[in-house]
Amino acid sequence: MELRIALVPGDGIGPDIVAQAVRVLEKVAAKGGHTLRLKSLLAGGAAIDEKGIPLPDETLEEARASDAVLLGAVGGPKWDAVPSSIRPEKALLGLRGGLGLFCNLRPAMLYSQLAGACPLRRELVEGGLDIMVVRELTGGIYFGKRGRNDEGAFDTMSYKKTEIERIARKAFEIAQRRSCHLTSVDKANILETSRLWRATVEEVKADYPDVRVDHLYVDNAAMQLVRNPKQFDVILTENMFGDILSDEASMVTGSIGMLPSASLRSDSFGMYEPIHGSAPDIAGQDKANPLATILSAAMMLRYSFNLTSEADEIEQAVEKTLAEGWRTADIWSEGMKLCGTAAMGQAVCDAIK
Ligand code: IPM
Ligand code: MG
Repeated sequence: MELRIALVPGDGIGPDIVAQAVRVLEKVAAKGGHTLRLKSLLAGGAAIDEKGIPLPDETLEEARASDAVLLGAVGGPKWDAVPSSIRPEKALLGLRGGLGLFCNLRPAMLYSQLAGACPLRRELVEGGLDIMVVRELTGGIYFGKRGRNDEGAFDTMSYKKTEIERIARKAFEIAQRRSCHLTSVDKANILETSRLWRATVEEVKADYPDVRVDHLYVDNAAMQLVRNPKQFDVILTENMFGDILSDEASMVTGSIGMLPSASLRSDSFGMYEPIHGSAPDIAGQDKANPLATILSAAMMLRYSFNLTSEADEIEQAVEKTLAEGWRTADIWSEGMKLCGTAAMGQAVCDAIK
């Protein structure tokens, strides 16, 4: 099959890690007889430097014309002083909104080989952690009206019922493929959007009678994530709560440099990226950990191309590479083999039989 993939390396370590994910994709494609059609696109600070704006029209158009997008990271202190209307982060929001990617999947897994990096007491995570955060990505306060007036500033959070319904359905479907347990997170004691959220999730639930649903307020959910993370399987929440809780969930696993993400819509198109940032301090030094991006490429094969066995193969290769002791500096511990970005990419390629 032909895989038309738009690459958006972006800034900082973005190009370093995307290059390794591409090597792994090439290896898997060659093995499975697939043809890769790759196209590199400008976004973020790199686009500001070259074109004066974070998301050139042609990037959005080329991304639209592809089957999937693999993104590295955008942003860095170099662009801290640019006006807020053209900040590098605008590229991310523009891609999410412009491509209609309303469903953001952020798996937070504890890799047994890296369990030592988990900041929680061992008994709290015994047996492993595997949480899927389903974050609404194109609505809420991120996309609401904002501004300044004489007295201050405002940001508005609004949700259409249809926006809640479609993300809820995605989450229920995912829950059905996992342990049939969904935790919906809101702030229904305060926010009207949250009351609509809760009522809508309850309505959608009728179509998924096998799924058990809990509703938690977001402050309680934040607390429960460190008190007893194993109670969670699928967490469904709106855009900003999802931003915050997904960072927390990833840190709880101790594997923040390891975690991929997928941003999806109703068809098979998706954008895939590591959840970590652009780490400009180590850019171009062969130090960055490419595993989250490699695992994002695996999610791409799974969700956009339905190449399940190829995706499994990459995920298993990553586990094998960790089991062999290969570690980039961010996940290194005593007795392990320290390696650079390229060597880690090579090790994963080698682990694919
Ligand atoms: C994320 C990031 C982005 C967000 C920023 C960079 C715009 O924090 O993907 O979680 O807030 O969504
Ligand atoms: Mg975030």
